[in-house]
Amino acid sequence: EKLDSMTFVLFGATGDLAKRKIFPTLYNLFLDNKLPDPFAVIALGRKNFSSQAFRLHVLESLKIFSRRFPENTDSTETFLQMIHYHSLNATDNQGYLKLVDYIKHLETVLRIPENRLFYLSMAPEFIDTVTSNIKKSGLDSINGWKRLVIEKPFGFDLSSAQNLNNKLGNAFDEAEIYRIDHYLGKSMVQNLEVLKFANPMFQDIWNKENISNVQITASETVGVEERADYYDQAGAIRDMFQNHMLQILMMTAMQQPKKLNSKEIRKEKLKVMEALQPLQKENICSSIIRGQYEAGAINGIPVKGYREEPGVESLSKNDTFIAAKVLINHPAWYGVPFYIRTGKRMKEKSTRIVIEFKKKLSIVDAKDSDKTIPNLLTIEVNKEGISLQLNIKNPETNKIEPASFSFSANNGNTPAEYELLLYDVFRGNSTFFAHWKEVELAWKWVQPALEAFEKSDCPLHTYPAGSLGPVAADQLLKHDGFKWW
Ligand code: BG6
Repeated sequence: EKLDSMTFVLFGATGDLAKRKIFPTLYNLFLDNKLPDPFAVIALGRKNFSSQAFRLHVLESLKIFSRRFPENTDSTETFLQMIHYHSLNATDNQGYLKLVDYIKHLETVLRIPENRLFYLSMAPEFIDTVTSNIKKSGLDSINGWKRLVIEKPFGFDLSSAQNLNNKLGNAFDEAEIYRIDHYLGKSMVQNLEVLKFANPMFQDIWNKENISNVQITASETVGVEERADYYDQAGAIRDMFQNHMLQILMMTAMQQPKKLNSKEIRKEKLKVMEALQPLQKENICSSIIRGQYEAGAINGIPVKGYREEPGVESLSKNDTFIAAKVLINHPAWYGVPFYIRTGKRMKEKSTRIVIEFKKKLSIVDAKDSDKTIPNLLTIEVNKEGISLQLNIKNPETNKIEPASFSFSANNGNTPAEYELLLYDVFRGNSTFFAHWKEVELAWKWVQPALEAFEKSDCPLHTYPAGSLGPVAADQLLKHDGFKWW
């Protein structure tokens, strides 16, 4: 596919995300011949660097964080030469005017048309300042196209997200905004479309007639790491649930779009969000379970409790675990519970979607039917595999036994999430980015929970580090006659 030539204007180029993800991603796309040509990166940061000095920093981070690092130094050098450092204090209005001159100069010298991609890898409080300055300075008065890529967090609650979006709307159209949710960049999440809609055997049974419940899990073994400042305010509900988990829910529950294009897919995803049964005051605490880890051990190694972690308030009531039961008032899904859970410091790192089918074994006689298990379709998001559990009669024993068929999509070196996502930005394809309406409805859905948590209306359950989460999360399913798989 021929990509438009463009300039990639990176705000926050000296930051952590740029170092760990953005430069290694661009480098891997370069190795795969998936960068536009010509292409220039304008790396913006407050510090003073020459381009040459900055390139050496980038080189160091590629060595550490790139999934590939070929020996051929010539090609690495070619890549590094595309990076141009320019110092800018994001709050200095005059600086943006100088940036305009600088971009124009590069565009002329490198013969790049005025297509400008602005990537904001900065703390959320800068988003407004930067986008309004892009507009005021005329950085966006161009003959070509402009695009804006932004990272989460997208707001702190419903009203702050709406506020932020209004501000963005002053400088960019919705169609120009690419909100990264890296879970949408996971190949198995993208694969859901194909799995559901390219296989008639699933296509026709993806509904309440055949599915008894759906379970979405994202468990992590890491704790709060060095991010207490952010995490102790955000909690699992904002950090994972409002964005990643609800995006997986949309991708799992959406019905077949008219076409597999961005517009139609987003339309179907939105139908899921519009149909989510809102949390009612009286059932918030029974539909959403919040937990916090206590001291425990992971793989035999003792770890601290959340409240003992550096930077965390000693009496913090923040959630490090969330489990929720979600119902979708859509004709395809009436009565089918979707259980979602996510937590830090759990037993294993695992992101998976389990579809539990209804038991319909009327022909098998009752005594055997007890021994059958429901059909399960498991999508391993992180391990990149799919497995299907069926009931089979073992020819040796003549008894019904579960048999599992699995497929692993992972050959050990698949493109990382950001590679898929950034390539889509280059192509102008926004299918796997969060649309504002999705984000807004996701905030609307969690808002009553945020308020209940704030007032400590719901109990904060505890769980030992290294466990599967609080007991209350098991009861959430037990109550309906199910269990977590
Ligand atoms: C991030 C969260 O968005 O996703 C982190 O801020 C979390 O807290 C991470 O650890 C998990 O992502 P992944 O891809 O490792 O499942």
